[in-house]
Amino acid sequence: MLGVNGLLVRVLGSAAGGGVPQWNCNCPVCQKVRAGGPSLYRTQSALAVSPDGQDWYLVNASPDVRQQILSCKWLEPGPGYRDTPLRGVILTDAELDHTLGLLSLREGDGWCLYATAAVHHQLTTRFPVLPVLHAYAPRVQYHEVVPGDAFTLGHGSAQIRVHATEVSRRLPLYAGEANAPGAVVALTFENIRTSRRLVYAPAVAAPSTALHRELASADCILFDGTFWSEEELVRLGISSRTAADMDHLPMAGPSGSARWLETLPARIKLYVHVNNTNPALDPAGPERHWIRSAGLDLAEDGWEIEL
Ligand code: MLT
Ligand code: MN
Ligand code: ZN
Repeated sequence: MLGVNGLLVRVLGSAAGGGVPQWNCNCPVCQKVRAGGPSLYRTQSALAVSPDGQDWYLVNASPDVRQQILSCKWLEPGPGYRDTPLRGVILTDAELDHTLGLLSLREGDGWCLYATAAVHHQLTTRFPVLPVLHAYAPRVQYHEVVPGDAFTLGHGSAQIRVHATEVSRRLPLYAGEANAPGAVVALTFENIRTSRRLVYAPAVAAPSTALHRELASADCILFDGTFWSEEELVRLGISSRTAADMDHLPMAGPSGSARWLETLPARIKLYVHVNNTNPALDPAGPERHWIRSAGLDLAEDGWEIEL
């Protein structure tokens, strides 16, 4: 039964920015998905995690956050008129697809926002969503996340230890060509009771020793599945930016993420933050078949994991 051992995780959204299909996209994958209907649709990247099935934290606040909360029974309000199990939001970076939803949470107050100093700085300066939010929800409280240090969520014996690992220093496009330590992190969630670990890494530019260490000791990995190949957007004529330009390690190829993930002992290894152009989204296509043969798969919206 879900919720017995704590550390519950729900994939609220498994797509990258734009979702699947994307409103203005008629690429081959978006065409197929539209033809297949809403059961193939995916909302934008976010998780919900809980230490005990009672208190819940969002990991990233996507533009689809309202729909994601409404479709999750764990996040229903009550018992008081404005009580909610939502205790906070943890951010991996300051990208629009991970932060636009913060403003949609303005009706609730008193929750905690966890982010690195670099992310907090962007959200108070170049993209000042936090000062705007503060006018509506003055009791939202900021907690700094320091890469390398751990913090805990929950109380009593139901606690999660959260640990951030820096994966890139590149700030979002809106911040210009700027870099800052802690711009993008991966998050490790450890159930203190069972010692089981989940690593959430929706944006990974390249393999690193620090991230490898986290992944190698994880029971469950939710990993950046933005692109299938390096030149995906270029070949479709959609953009001149390669996967490397956008700091997303592609799935395929000899140095792609699939070959790396395949070697790791985690029991559950799933891609999240999948861009609508990624051919692995086609459930019947050869790319998905290849991903599955490597012991990996794509997470779907609504999937729940208990660790
Ligand atoms: C990313 O995942 O790299 C960003 O969300 C891309 C963007 O929206 O510019
Ligand atoms: Mn993104
Ligand atoms: Zn598309």
